Amino acid sequence: MRIPVLVINFKTYRTSYGQSGLSIAKSAEKVALETGLNIVIAPPLLETSFIVKNVGIDVYAQHAEPLYYGAYTGHTPIEALRDIGVRGVIVNHSENQIDLKSIIRISEIARSMGLGVIACSDSTGLAEIIAKHAMPDAIALEPPELIGSGIAVSKARPEIIIEGVKAVKQVSKHMLQNTERVSRDIAVLAGAGISSREDVARAIELGAEGVLVASAIMLSKSPESVIMDFAQSMLKAWDERRGSGVKRA
Ligand code: G3P
Repeated sequence: MRIPVLVINFKTYRTSYGQSGLSIAKSAEKVALETGLNIVIAPPLLETSFIVKNVGIDVYAQHAEPLYYGAYTGHTPIEALRDIGVRGVIVNHSENQIDLKSIIRISEIARSMGLGVIACSDSTGLAEIIAKHAMPDAIALEPPELIGSGIAVSKARPEIIIEGVKAVKQVSKHMLQNTERVSRDIAVLAGAGISSREDVARAIELGAEGVLVASAIMLSKSPESVIMDFAQSMLKAWDERRGSGVKRA
């Protein structure tokens, strides 16, 4: 996953569907083109195919099941997502939690298909376990109590980012050195309550390599200006972090 990254989780707000969802997806694409930032969008599953056909940035599924094509009424096989052009999946979001076995299985199948995986975790301990056993492309640290609250994880729970980055990077380094199956670092993202450009900058300063955002964009009256604001803030903080000689965590 190219870092830094802004991941926009559309969730299932009214604005996430139809022309409104498409317009936000197009805004994300426009900002990505103008700023050069990697912006990943995760529309609702029902809209995924429509959005993939209409934008050129990476579209992730909000959830997937560790299934190939077959007789699975009402399920969403990861193989089908791959075939409609999805580039990756979000797994274990707080609003859609799954067991560790499924996280591992989805990550394995996704890897075999060349898809990315962002695995969410509500604690440092779980982040470490997921990193070790599932080796996703990215782990998103999201304290559930701050999701949708407007109170940013980077302000209210900075220790979650600091400790999470440390724990995941240690595992990632170990895996890179000792496991042939792994050829890339695990990125660490932070999410929950991110509402302002300061929240984004602070997350990057604390060691995150990207953020996951939903309500601040999906419920805004001018989503494009919020996306632009967050993108510029992230790039500035990223440049400052690198310029200050702070080694990538
Ligand atoms: O996946 C992103 C998320 O759970 C954070 O939601 O609304 O607090 O940005 P929000």
